[in-house]
Amino acid sequence: MSLISTREMLLQAQKENYAVPAFNIHNMESMQVVVEAAIKNRSPLIIAATPSTVRYAGADYLVAMAETAARKYDIPIALHLDHFEKVEEIKSAITAGFTSCMIDASKLPFKENISKVQEVASYAHRYDVTVEAELGKLIGMEDDIVVEEKDVIYTNPEDAVEFVRQCDIDSLAVAIGTAHGLYKGKPHLDFERLAAIRDVISIPLVLHGASDVPAEMLQKTIQLGICKVNIATDLKIPFANALRKYLKEHPEANDPRKYLTPAKAAMLEVAEDKIVLCGSQNRY
Ligand code: 13P
Repeated sequence: MSLISTREMLLQAQKENYAVPAFNIHNMESMQVVVEAAIKNRSPLIIAATPSTVRYAGADYLVAMAETAARKYDIPIALHLDHFEKVEEIKSAITAGFTSCMIDASKLPFKENISKVQEVASYAHRYDVTVEAELGKLIGMEDDIVVEEKDVIYTNPEDAVEFVRQCDIDSLAVAIGTAHGLYKGKPHLDFERLAAIRDVISIPLVLHGASDVPAEMLQKTIQLGICKVNIATDLKIPFANALRKYLKEHPEANDPRKYLTPAKAAMLEVAEDKIVLCGSQNRY
């Protein structure tokens, strides 16, 4: 197969009431891990890269690796730009071969958010690239975007209707109490708000900040209409912990093929668990 957009996979997830995991990767190793997790579990997969990942690894390298995976295996795989704020960067990544994008204009006032999203949507759709946009603001830090508690805004269902009506987007990221990074204490999610949004919005809904959310809460968001679940932190931590442990136990180690192997194994275990939680296993 080739890389595809997220359109069909999210619509199918919406219809069958599960979520497609969007795993943030940073390099070849993490991309290999999430692909392996998806293959083993016959799950659709969204491989997500933030602006700093694209700067770090290179759009062309990321596209070549993801295309290799898509050619080699028979599950649907999309390569997605996560939290991009600059229209020019989105355009150049689309030229490189990304098949899906998120334009994050959520920190702009409502009308400016809409006009930036419209600009991206009219460009991306010409190349059959799907577009996600966000309304509301999540606390925490993702890439270089930091949102403090005082600046958090939950998604308002009425605004969401107007936003979707004007924007021609394929999916909507909502703010209902999740956070980027780890939580201080148990998360408080506004399930009523999510249900109210679901009642009035027909396109697939996206949950950012899904790491560190207890399993039953995550599954409840999926029951209430979330079709794409974004995971970054929960993959990074076991990778780094296993790497630290290995290097501590083998202070003489200098072969990346050896010291990265346990790190990949630890990340794989979590990625597989997340697929099961999303209910996306055995869909293909
Ligand atoms: P986490 O920090 O919860 O993994 O959030 C990831 C995310 O939302 C990426 O867009």
